[in-house]
Amino acid sequence: MSKMELKNYANEDWCDSLRRLRENSQGSGLSLKMQLDGLLRARHVTYWDYIRQDTLLSLQAPRTIVPDEMIFIVYHQISELYFRLILWEMEQLIDEGATVTADLFVNKIERINRYYEQLVSSFSIMVDGMDHHQFMQFRSALAPASGFQSLQYRLIDLHATALPHLVATAHRSQLTGYEPLDKLYRRIYWKEGAIDTKTGRKDLSLSEFEEKYDGLLLGKAARLEQRSLWSIYRRLASTYAVTDHCRSVLREFDVLANVKWPLVHLKAAMKHLHQASQPVESTGGTNWRKYLPPRYQQISYFPDLWTAEERDNWGRTYTYELMSKLVEA
Ligand code: HEM
Repeated sequence: MSKMELKNYANEDWCDSLRRLRENSQGSGLSLKMQLDGLLRARHVTYWDYIRQDTLLSLQAPRTIVPDEMIFIVYHQISELYFRLILWEMEQLIDEGATVTADLFVNKIERINRYYEQLVSSFSIMVDGMDHHQFMQFRSALAPASGFQSLQYRLIDLHATALPHLVATAHRSQLTGYEPLDKLYRRIYWKEGAIDTKTGRKDLSLSEFEEKYDGLLLGKAARLEQRSLWSIYRRLASTYAVTDHCRSVLREFDVLANVKWPLVHLKAAMKHLHQASQPVESTGGTNWRKYLPPRYQQISYFPDLWTAEERDNWGRTYTYELMSKLVEA
């Protein structure tokens, strides 16, 4: 050991670290010596082990030999990872032990907005970055799987807002405010979207999703009833802690999640499924032309941050911009 190291060893920081390590070891039942010996023999962390590179790259399993199916799979996985980060930030605010100040709240929503901006701007990978003819070749191998069955996408809704805000538009105006949770959940917008209005039958991607996740989602809805971001916002607002900046960050979040992402996603569906010469059904089987546009779903996580006029025009301004770009293209 060099003189300098010995000096450091004696310095207070080192002593403090050793003292804390010993306290820790008393709690865990492992002696301090054993822990230090373990450190001596520990392997260095490598990038590939830490990032789990091999596992990550083993998770893409195309079902066809069509090259662009790889883009489709990887981009879905990238989106799911961003959803994961969004939920990660939300969970930290919702955590029972968390003290949520207005500053922390804004900071987390800003992070969430950053993730959504990435999701929105990168969606052109699905629109322009994937060959339509190749898409038509591999899509039939996927049915009835659909992004409609993304659990994380549904969880984001439940973490973000109160269940009545997620009820399908046709039922929303009839709500009394006294409906039990399970009734609200049954009326959630995406369930309505996958029911054939003529026959009343659920499509396969919905019934399979319900079988796997209804229990989990209902449990989450109960846990989040008083803890969603909407509830946190209301609590902060009741103590006058909500600033104009906070409101504008929340409005941006609402637009990104409920208008901009749904519209770039719709643009991909239009590009690949709405060929005038050859109308194609989606793999999930919903009436997507009616169901996907945000002006039809009318979902807003923070409805009282918008004027009545803004809510009436929900999604329209952006829809016009997007559709005109699509026509130009
Ligand atoms: C070429 C690319 C894509 C096409 C053509 C497409 C098409 C569709 C269609 C038609 C639906 C309605 C359900 C159905 O009938 O299947 C849907 C739903 C959905 N897709 Fe995609 N999709 C694409 C890419 C993606 C990507 C990359 C994601 C990212 C995870 C995604 C996530 C979702 C979600 C979350 C829903 C449910 C939306 C809602 O309930 O409002 N999709 N998609």
